[in-house]
Amino acid sequence: MTKRCAIWRLSWIIVAALWITQAMAMMGGGGGCMMGCSSGVTVIDPPRGRPFQDPPLAPNLSTTPGVVEVNLEAKVAPVNVNGTVANLQTYNGVFPGPTIRVRRGDTLVINFRNSLPFSGYNMHGYPRNLTNLHTHGLHVSPIGNSDNVMLNFGEGESFQFVYDLSLHPAGNFNFYHPHVHGNAAEQVWAGLVGALEVEDATPMLAGYETHLLVLKDISLSNSAPTLHSNSDFMNGKEGNVVMVNGLVNPVLTMKPGQIQRWKIVNASNARFYKLNLANHNLHVVGTDGGLLDKPYAQSTVLLSPGERVDILVKATTTKGYYKLKALPYNRGAGASANQEITLMTVNVTGSAVSQSLPSSINPSAVRLSVPSNIPVRQLTLRMGMMGGMMGGSMSASINGIVYSDTSAFTLNSTLGGYEIWEIYNQSMMDHPFHQHVNHAQVLAINGGDASYRNLLTTAPAWKDTVIVPAMGSVRLLVPVKDFAGLTVFHCHILEHEDIGMMGLWDIR
Ligand code: CU
Ligand code: CU
Ligand code: CU
Repeated sequence: MTKRCAIWRLSWIIVAALWITQAMAMMGGGGGCMMGCSSGVTVIDPPRGRPFQDPPLAPNLSTTPGVVEVNLEAKVAPVNVNGTVANLQTYNGVFPGPTIRVRRGDTLVINFRNSLPFSGYNMHGYPRNLTNLHTHGLHVSPIGNSDNVMLNFGEGESFQFVYDLSLHPAGNFNFYHPHVHGNAAEQVWAGLVGALEVEDATPMLAGYETHLLVLKDISLSNSAPTLHSNSDFMNGKEGNVVMVNGLVNPVLTMKPGQIQRWKIVNASNARFYKLNLANHNLHVVGTDGGLLDKPYAQSTVLLSPGERVDILVKATTTKGYYKLKALPYNRGAGASANQEITLMTVNVTGSAVSQSLPSSINPSAVRLSVPSNIPVRQLTLRMGMMGGMMGGSMSASINGIVYSDTSAFTLNSTLGGYEIWEIYNQSMMDHPFHQHVNHAQVLAINGGDASYRNLLTTAPAWKDTVIVPAMGSVRLLVPVKDFAGLTVFHCHILEHEDIGMMGLWDIR
């Protein structure tokens, strides 16, 4: 065992002891909060900030019809975070990264370059600047030069990704971020996120003013993102600056009676957002995998890391300021359980317009009936002390196996069929479960937020990331479609992925 390894193991044992102590205290007290939270709600209501801005669009460098070509360079750059200029890890020097916009049927070419400077090794033993790229939510091949997260790129390396979008559904909203096991959490935390938008095939929503909202939190220290601690890897790291497109409480203008379409991605490491807009419903028209049949009115929309939602908002006819908030949500860890945060302010002003909500959007969105005699897979998510040859250490696992570069639980699937995945959470925290390549429909959720459960188990929603509630479970219908190859599924609290809550999915 190396010295670094020994220190690492010792520190995890200390964290584990703390964790068990707190868990026992919690059970005795009957509270709902695992760590880092106290009783009572903290209202975080920053002054209204700058005008709302969409992230910049990545220019298409190709003049060939049906080809979108963009450059993405991972590099450190100064970014204004709520008045402080901080050195973030960025794509092309901007935060959030530039939005990539494509259509179904396009070929997307990404000329990727890793210009992150060497800055030592992290506590998992990886050089901090080793990175790669995942196009989260794309139904594309997971191998070769497509969405292949098994590739890693060192400093100065370049690579050309080519994604064939001919089988990807139209009208969904995705994001891209790094995915090196052991480095993903720190790099996303430091700013490496961007949106990837696939245009609608239907004209039903074309008339509405549309905006993208990239939700991300961060904490800074000495003009840089704060470093991860051991407990951050257990709890998932939350930040004290919460931003929409890099802005704190930006002001978005709407006309009285106007309908706007907001495509929202939770690009945070661990923070969940229980969204609520004062005096307004949020009409959900799309989820991770595409558009729904019709709008679903919700008073709150819960979004865990990795999830996206596409909503329509119809402004009231009463002029004034309305707060888009993240309401307290207890995911079993983190200060957010007791925080009520103003994310953005809607300013309803100007002359009224009359727009109405569509009654139907995507008639091809249907809930599938479950085929008979299909394989049922069981995946169990755990945190805690895992036994090992060298004694126990704090880690995360799927079916008892802590993912590493040399071992992983592997699910073998046959291309072309359907499967039921039963995902059990045997821990005191929620885990947003994400599978690559294929979107799934949610058959059942046991536990957690009622409106989240009701929407996803009744609407014809396609999902690649679903919250598995603490000590609860989720049942998914997973089509194994179109693409063979080796890929992964994991918890999208990226700290948990980095400490082992990931498995291999071998599709043949
Ligand atoms: Cu992701
Ligand atoms: Cu997790
Ligand atoms: Cu992933």
